[in-house]
Formats: sequence, C-alpha cells, structure tokens
Amino acid sequence: MYNNAFFLGKGGVGKTTLSSAFALELARRGKRVLVASLDPAHNLGDVYDTKLAGKPKKIEANLDALEIDLGFWIKQYLDNSREELKTHYAYASTLNLDPFFDIMRYSPGTEEYAVLWAIEHIHCDLAPDYDLVVFDTPPTALTLRFLAMPTITNMWIQELSNLRAHILERRQTIGRLNPGSPVAESCVDKDDDKVYGRLGSIGRRLMLLKTLFTQKSFISVIVNPDVLSVSEALRIKEEMGRLGLPLSAVLVNKLGMGTNSWNLDSDLFGQLSFDVAFKKEGLRSIKDLGSIDIQNLVNHFLKSWKES
Ligand SMILES: Nc1ncnc2c1ncn2[C@@H]1O[C@H](COP(=O)(O)OP(=O)(O)O)[C@@H](O)[C@H]1O
Ligand SMILES: [Mg+2]
Repeated sequence: MYNNAFFLGKGGVGKTTLSSAFALELARRGKRVLVASLDPAHNLGDVYDTKLAGKPKKIEANLDALEIDLGFWIKQYLDNSREELKTHYAYASTLNLDPFFDIMRYSPGTEEYAVLWAIEHIHCDLAPDYDLVVFDTPPTALTLRFLAMPTITNMWIQELSNLRAHILERRQTIGRLNPGSPVAESCVDKDDDKVYGRLGSIGRRLMLLKTLFTQKSFISVIVNPDVLSVSEALRIKEEMGRLGLPLSAVLVNKLGMGTNSWNLDSDLFGQLSFDVAFKKEGLRSIKDLGSIDIQNLVNHFLKSWKES
C-alpha cells in the first residue's frame, strides 16, 4: 500500500511544483494529504504562498504542509549519538567528546541521517493522521544518498553485530577459563548486551525506512524536454535499480517550453510516463498550481493505490 510519494529529478525540473500540485489535487479529491519538504533550501512555502515550519500547517481542506528543520534534526542526531556513547561506553565519559561532535556536524553522512530521522518522525508520528505523505525532495545527490542509507547502514550494522557477538563469545571463553579475570565480570549473553541490543534497534529503525522506500512509496522521476534532465533521470533510474527501489513513473514536465530537439531515452520510454504542459503565463498562486494538468497521473496513482 503506497502511503508516500517522492518526485526526483534534476534541479529546476519541477519537483516542488509537481509534488505540491499532486498533493493539492489529491486533497481536492478527498484524500488527507501532508506535503513535507526535505530540501535544505526549502521553497514549498513559496509555492503555497505561506510561511511553513517543522510542524504541519493547514493549506486548505485536507491539505497540510511542512518544511523539515534540518538544523534541528542534525542536532537531535548528534545529541543522541553523544548520549549513547556516554551511556554505553564508560571510557567515553572521561573524555571530552565535544570537539569530535563539532566535527561530526560537518562530516559526510550527518545530513543524510538527519533527513532519515526526519522522515521516520513524519512516518511514525504524523502520517497516521493522513492518507498520504508527499515528499518534496532535495537535489538528486542528497536524495539518492538518503534513499541508499538504510541499505548501506544495514550492511555495516550486520558486520558490527557479528563482531560484537564474536567479542562476547571470546569474553565468555576467557571467563570460563579464568573466572577471576576482570573480563569474566563483563561476560553477558548477546541478549543481555547493551551494545548488541542497540545495534539491533538501529537496524530495525533502518529496516522500517527501507520498507517505506521500497514497498510503500510511489517514486517518480521528472524530466523536462531537454537532454540534461533526461541524462540525470537515467542516472537516477540506474541508481534506484541498484538500491532495489521501484520507479513508478516518469513525468515529462514543461512540454512545449522550447523548440530544441530532444528525445526521451529509450530506457525511460519503457516506463509509464505522463506529460505535463508548460504554463507559459507562469505559476504564481495556488490557483495556478491547481490548473496544472496532472489528472492522468493522479488517476493512475489512485488506481494503483487501491491495487497495491
Ligand atoms: N509545468 C510548468 N509550467 C510552467 N512553469 C513551471 C512548470 N513546472 C515548473 N515550473 C517552474 O519551473 C521553476 C522550477 O520549478 P521547481 O518546482 O522549483 O523545480 P525543482 O523543485 O525541481 O527545483 C519554477 O519557477 C516553477 O514555477
Ligand atoms: Mg524544489
């Protein structure tokens, strides 16, 4: 059952525009919809012509929107990690970890985890009040990285769990051979080991997100009638394939915008695709947003929703 929708694509193709128009149309057809912007450079509020924050704000009947506060989620992630280190590793309480966490704020992966935990919060705490959550995604690189994160992290969680199990086994052997040794005091079974348990719980959180992305999400890629956006869409499709993420549809937005020749690569042709016309007069208000013709996409979505 899809209860999430993601629109991916090159910067400027219309991710924010089409995700907000899609959400609006579904809300007008009676579905309760939340649109959540995951883009650190939010402009969902601009499109709906209102100021948005981290909590859902009503846009119109059946439609709420929010823009995640990435700074808050990064701080939350770092604070939790710091707390965990102190709780589970006694030596950590004797060290000053502040400089380490100051660096971690800017280290690779931090932003991706922060986005993941924001999605987890939306999924667990907010989504139950809605039929569907539509995500307005950040640029491709960050989106692909956070989509990949559950799979990648699970691999090393698995390795770390094996390693921990091995350490615990060794400790037990030493404890048996030498019951008086200091190691014997810390002999516990896997099930009673805090670190092993913690790895398991992180693994379960990530599995939930992986299931959300691979089984509960309608993921489409947007292209424009130009070569660059099509090339990027091909790369996205390839990467999604590697991650086991289903590509539900291709949206060709801004049709009729230019006269340059272009073609939808045959690799994308095989996909179900929907055309969206370019609005020459521009998009300035929520009324303009409502006039974007995405009826076919919405019909298809509602049909596959029922079937899924
Ligand atoms: N179908 C359309 N017709 C006219 N303008 C469009 C259309 N789709 C998007 N735009 C315009 O293109 C620009 C980029 O769209 P946006 O949704 O912000 O892209 P993205 O979120 O992918 O970066 C905006 O100015 C938006 O109003
Ligand atoms: Mg955008």
